[in-house]
Amino acid sequence: MRIKTFALTLMALAIGSVAMAQGDIDQRVEELLQKMTLEEKIGQMNQLSGGYQFTEMIREGNVGSILNIVDPVEINAVQRAAVENSRLGIPLLVSRDVIHGFRTIFPIPLGMAATFDPDIVEQGARIAAIEATASGVRWTFSPMLDIARDPRWGRVAEGSGEDTYLDVQMGVAMVKGYQGEDFSDPTSMAACIKHFVGYGAAEGGRDYNTTMISERALRNVYFPAFKACVDAGALTLMTSFNDVDGLPSTGNDWLLRDILREEWGFDGMVVTDWNSSGEMIAHGFAEDLKHATELSINAGVDMDMMSWGFIQHTKSLIEEGKLSMETIDNAVRNILKLKFRLGLFENPYVDVTLARKVAYAPEHLAAAKQCAIESAVLIQNNNNVLPLAKGSTVLVTGPMADAPYDQLGTWAFDGEEQYTVTPLKALAAHFNVINAPTLSYSRDTDTSSFKAAQKAAKKADAIVVCVGEEAILSGEAHSLSNLNLQGAQSQLIAAMRATGKPVVVVVIAGRPLTIERDLAKCDAMLYSFHPGTMGGEALADLIAGEAVPSGKLPMTFLRDAGQAPFYYNHPMTGRPNNGTETLLHDIPLKAGQTSLGCTSYYLDTGYGPLFPFGYGLSYTTFEYANVNLDKYEHNKSDYIHIDFDLTNTGDREATEVVQIYVRDLVGSVVRPVKELKGFMRVTLKPGETKHLMYDLPVSDLAFWNRDMEYVVESGEFQLWVAGDSASGEPINFKVL
Ligand code: GLC
Repeated sequence: MRIKTFALTLMALAIGSVAMAQGDIDQRVEELLQKMTLEEKIGQMNQLSGGYQFTEMIREGNVGSILNIVDPVEINAVQRAAVENSRLGIPLLVSRDVIHGFRTIFPIPLGMAATFDPDIVEQGARIAAIEATASGVRWTFSPMLDIARDPRWGRVAEGSGEDTYLDVQMGVAMVKGYQGEDFSDPTSMAACIKHFVGYGAAEGGRDYNTTMISERALRNVYFPAFKACVDAGALTLMTSFNDVDGLPSTGNDWLLRDILREEWGFDGMVVTDWNSSGEMIAHGFAEDLKHATELSINAGVDMDMMSWGFIQHTKSLIEEGKLSMETIDNAVRNILKLKFRLGLFENPYVDVTLARKVAYAPEHLAAAKQCAIESAVLIQNNNNVLPLAKGSTVLVTGPMADAPYDQLGTWAFDGEEQYTVTPLKALAAHFNVINAPTLSYSRDTDTSSFKAAQKAAKKADAIVVCVGEEAILSGEAHSLSNLNLQGAQSQLIAAMRATGKPVVVVVIAGRPLTIERDLAKCDAMLYSFHPGTMGGEALADLIAGEAVPSGKLPMTFLRDAGQAPFYYNHPMTGRPNNGTETLLHDIPLKAGQTSLGCTSYYLDTGYGPLFPFGYGLSYTTFEYANVNLDKYEHNKSDYIHIDFDLTNTGDREATEVVQIYVRDLVGSVVRPVKELKGFMRVTLKPGETKHLMYDLPVSDLAFWNRDMEYVVESGEFQLWVAGDSASGEPINFKVL
């Protein structure tokens, strides 16, 4: 009994201390707020990109945060201007886009999603936080949670792809990794969930374009990852550039107050995207910067990234009665609370020697390599040409074979190419490498070196062609209407095919490209979403069989860009494709108007994608068997206990990403043909069978229905346990 009492006492003290810490912070915020002048309050709401050049403004209390400075000496200098020279000594929030690593660059977020491994993603975010905070950066503008169903949009690179469930798992992992357990720990970096909301639904895949998303689609598809990250304690949120149904997010009080604050209880801080407040003028939603400022602050924005509107117009808007002091005070409370939570008042400065000590630590590089290994997706391996025989002679060519800068991918500001290990460098550890330089960058059209490469190939046992995209071809404002390999890359693959040697294509890109024609010209294709600093070693280990591919596609791969937007979890439509459709070259002359079959498909490309969401091969094969449910009628409070056998039917130890999909056959609104509801990574030795179980709460089948209620509707369901979204046999069950 005494032990129990002692434990209870400890627990009470622990809870009390957290509550006291929070209560202590709230009290400290109020005390400080009371001392602040209106100008000082407005100054906290102002975020500027730069450092030294704003020293005077910082001393005057006119800057609350800076971004894009990473030199610890400069950061300490401008922080000293705030802490020691401004009237109240309020420290600055120092921020940066640390999107997939700071110095040690991990695969781009789309690649991290392909791992289906939240643990390695959390580890990567923790490492990014350790390296960035060592420079003085305590706030990152990550994770990007934008659901992306259109690979023409360049920013698919920065998110977790098309699926809501995967987006939730990856977003929460990054928030936990960045922020850690104790926000006041010097290595804790505030996360910023972005871009709220619907940015990835830009019409035509054209960045910044308008979006038309119903409330129900917002709630069922685009909100869940944000809500999950709010529940996981994300400290900040960024508004998006786009409008949703005519309302730019930065001026949308339904989003920022009704949903975010009232419904979800978000108690963090809201920042605009870069000048997204001022851009409401271009949207035709604000008359001028003063009006944009009024709209943003009244909608619920706390901090203004680089419009300069808040610092210029807030005081006059208050004097004119268009903004209330209560609104301003609440915004400043959110900002000050964040600064107290991060411990900036006690610990504003950074040890300027630390950054270089922690950067590229061996354990950081090892984690980045493991993440890159798990993020690579084997999409073709005819005749098991991969892995190549170690010690054999391999000709290596292609613009991405030795591209240390481009391999890092988009938003890798602080990665340093001199640390990048490229495939060309790494392959030499496993093979006798012949380097045959051909195209020098992804857009290069100069084929003059192809013949020499073909000649050199005569001495090789196999050819590895590394193609893809320079980093600049994906990311912000880099949309593409044509997703074929740029330049003469496809011709290079064909030229290598013409040698008659086995051809392995490695694609290193920022998005799913339309590579069907290239698949026909190679034996194997390994797809790597800009794999970062250690990508070359990861790819070389996979090619040599030191590691076995386990990555799965986080986005559907198209046969043609004209199919976009295309995603696996789509509604069935009233005339679903049935596989009997007549294709373009089979259409008889003078065909009758209704003779081709009236279903949802394309005359030229048919219906299906090139590869489905969740697809990825291994060097072995896996067999799913004996998939059972504990029962076939469930109450809404039940768990569905799924059990099944998984066998590694090949001769290599390997990891399979088992995926659980569910379909709600009939709903009060049309429902997706299937939705991912769970996954697990399972490692099996050759020939090994594991009996596995997965417990799926029936409550996870809830959705926002016709009456805009979040409920599980009774009726017939189907469930799949498979290795991708297009495989497996459905099991029927009922919810009562
Ligand atoms: C940008 C991006 C946003 C980024 C911000 C700061 O334009 O949209 O994702 O965090 O500016 O760099």
